[in-house]
Amino acid sequence: MMGNILPALYILAAASFILAIKWMNSPATARRGVIVGELGMLLAVVGTLLRYEVVDYQWIFIAFFLGSAIGVPLAYFMPMTAVPQRTAISHAFGALASALIGTAEYYRQTHDGFTMSALVLEMLLGFLTFTASLMAFGKLQELLPTRPITYKGQNFVNLGLFVLAVVTGIALILSPEQSWLFPIFALLSLVFGILLIIPIGGADMPTVIALLNSYAGLSASAMGFALGNKLLIVAGALDGSSGFILAIIMCRAMNRSFSNVLFGAFGQLQTTAEKTAARPVRTASPEEAAEILDSARSVILIPGYGMAVAQAQHKLRELFDILSKRGVDVRFAIHPVAGRMPGHMNVLLAEADVPYDKLFEMDEINGEFAMADVALVIGANDVVNPAAQNDKSSPIAGMPILEAYKARTVMVIKRSMNPGFAGIDNELYYRENTLMLFGDAKSFVSGIVKSLGALARV
Ligand code: TAP
Repeated sequence: MMGNILPALYILAAASFILAIKWMNSPATARRGVIVGELGMLLAVVGTLLRYEVVDYQWIFIAFFLGSAIGVPLAYFMPMTAVPQRTAISHAFGALASALIGTAEYYRQTHDGFTMSALVLEMLLGFLTFTASLMAFGKLQELLPTRPITYKGQNFVNLGLFVLAVVTGIALILSPEQSWLFPIFALLSLVFGILLIIPIGGADMPTVIALLNSYAGLSASAMGFALGNKLLIVAGALDGSSGFILAIIMCRAMNRSFSNVLFGAFGQLQTTAEKTAARPVRTASPEEAAEILDSARSVILIPGYGMAVAQAQHKLRELFDILSKRGVDVRFAIHPVAGRMPGHMNVLLAEADVPYDKLFEMDEINGEFAMADVALVIGANDVVNPAAQNDKSSPIAGMPILEAYKARTVMVIKRSMNPGFAGIDNELYYRENTLMLFGDAKSFVSGIVKSLGALARV
């Protein structure tokens, strides 16, 4: 009986995972995608608990309650802006679990060559992803220095260590009875994970996390081979490939190559001279900004990381409503790496019920800026920095940007002249057609909305 139910549950779970990934592709179906993914995981867990190998539920339930006691508050109370580091820490524990299961399997019984190969791959990826994800967490949470730490010959040291870990792993596959090799193999993998992240700057951490996600998935897939669990193979492979594809998409959106992200030590170039050079900028108050918006026919709103920090999406929705009601054509321009994680802006704007058909991707909207009366930038910086197009020496040179500078008037809401994540000055702020609106995004947009309301009554 159970023999029939289990494959059916596993097939359903695998199908749910595939549908979940497909539906998460569009904001309109993303919620459905998440629910189906969760149902799939429930089926997978129930199926696994029904397996005949499970003889005692006591420890499983203790782990279940402990895990839930930590996971549920983590999900509820974690602010949206901290999702990248939360994801990093989840990967760390997922990878550690995978590596520990591999370790237990290795010590539990002897294995044939194929299973040993799968176990070694699982443990190599599991251990290195564990420490690398902890490092990524530390950098994103700013517990560790976020700047890249580099030294001469670093890539050789890292490569050497990796080769050593792989060679020890192969030795273990060939002679699994030489158990003294195991701690050396585990230690090399753990240390490699740390050294891998040290030269990478905080700005590149989200891309690295997508890559680590991929490694954790591959480790789980290898575990599936070692334990003979087909669902684990499928789920791990899906995780591995989607993480990898995401990392590629993010690299493309920043016009960077993989090797540049992993070995390029990006984010180092912040010079104090650039930061302190005081140049005049034109500023405006919420009332003045409201008047300019009121007389515009076409407005493009560009949200960025600052909108997420200020949680200004609901106020922005109010601004969208009030301007639309007055006959202004209002659209949102979404840069693929605006914010700090993929889809960051889409998630926040969806939360504020901004209609999906008003959200335009970079390629769709860039041709429209020249016709727009106003480009209003809300807490975005790097994604509108013309240096990406004009300055070949800039660290963001070649990164595709939203061409806000082409609009008749550009207004930028931010709190100061401080740089964005790439740590560089933005030429846009000093242009003739740019007005700086200094203040917190939420309160400034709120001020504009209030002034627009007052204008309506006059
Ligand atoms: P950033 O370039 O990081 O700029 C955000 C700006 O928001 C800052 O200059 C900051 O200026 C302002 N800000 C912060 N808090 C604010 C508040 N409460 N109110 C108003 N403004 C506030 O953001 P972006 O343009 O969205 O670009 C994203 C960056 O992250 C890019 O460099 C991108 O490559 C990188 N990145 C993104 C991702 C993904 S997947 N999204 C992945 C990897 C890297 P003030 O301090 O003056 O207010």
